[in-house]
Amino acid sequence: MLTRRPRRNRKSAGIRAMVQENQITVNDFIFPLFMIEGENKKEEVVSMPGIYRYTLDLLVVEIGECLDLGITTFCLFPSLGEDKKDSMATEGHNPEGLYQVALRTIKEKYPEAVLMTDVAMDPYSSDGHDGIVRDGQIINDETLEVLGKMALAQAEAGADIIGPSDMMDGRIGYIREVLDDAGYTNVSIMSYSAKYASAFYGPFRDALDSAPKFGDKKTYQMDPANVKEALIEAELDFVEGADFLMVKPGMPYLDVIKTLSENFDIPITAYNVSGEYAMLKAAAQNGWLDNDKAMMEMLLSFKRAGASAILTYFAKEAAVLLK
Ligand code: PBG
Repeated sequence: MLTRRPRRNRKSAGIRAMVQENQITVNDFIFPLFMIEGENKKEEVVSMPGIYRYTLDLLVVEIGECLDLGITTFCLFPSLGEDKKDSMATEGHNPEGLYQVALRTIKEKYPEAVLMTDVAMDPYSSDGHDGIVRDGQIINDETLEVLGKMALAQAEAGADIIGPSDMMDGRIGYIREVLDDAGYTNVSIMSYSAKYASAFYGPFRDALDSAPKFGDKKTYQMDPANVKEALIEAELDFVEGADFLMVKPGMPYLDVIKTLSENFDIPITAYNVSGEYAMLKAAAQNGWLDNDKAMMEMLLSFKRAGASAILTYFAKEAAVLLK
């Protein structure tokens, strides 16, 4: 005699929908977008089929389409020529640089769009690192000054959420103070709190041409073996004033998302990174996985683990499916 039969709650689509514990909606998404210099150009990222690098004029069109699909939040990443890069990432805080011009232009056209930024030196650095390089070392405290200037330039250009992805110690407190001193108390910070030194960023570095010119990022990004260390990073970011905590990559680190969501009462974001996107696309192109079903299952896993927002290259196609 089986009194308890869990299958009763799975017997029809109606009951299954009623007992569903987690849902994906378009409100969960933050859509990362790659930008290039110039006009009227749209180049597909080879290792990310369906993802493009846009010049600003076409980026504005893309954002308009996404807003129509219900996506409200966008995270911009610039891909610059080597001529715009130097050892101090100066272009990163140029008010007339591509990034700041883009923020102002998009805000003017679509004031309702929520714009999240990236704060780290790598897209602008001739060394391809997230901090200042001296004698082969990444210098923490001097890098904070550069990051502060970047955050301020972005806030001045209209950014809603500043996203420090650099993993320097103390950057959240430093940036919070710079923003507050300049009167930007309402500009939020989404900290890449637990950002791992991961092999899953490969396609992103292709898209931005931002791979480190020497060495790796292991002295600042976290060791994939560690989870307690994620609690230390999250605690510091929380105390220093972060409004959101992020875990990156997403799918190989669902346990970290869960740990942070159980220990912190501010929203947790999952970054479903470029390599996760590339893996599914490659399998789908071979006919080995069903793209749409695997995509929705992957996105749902972040909600189940406790994320409230998902930075994902799937945002637009998932939004189309959800409509
Ligand atoms: C760098 C940065 C990276 C990503 C976002 N910001 C790559 C890196 O740390 O080298 C990766 C995102 C992705 O793979 O989708 N500041």
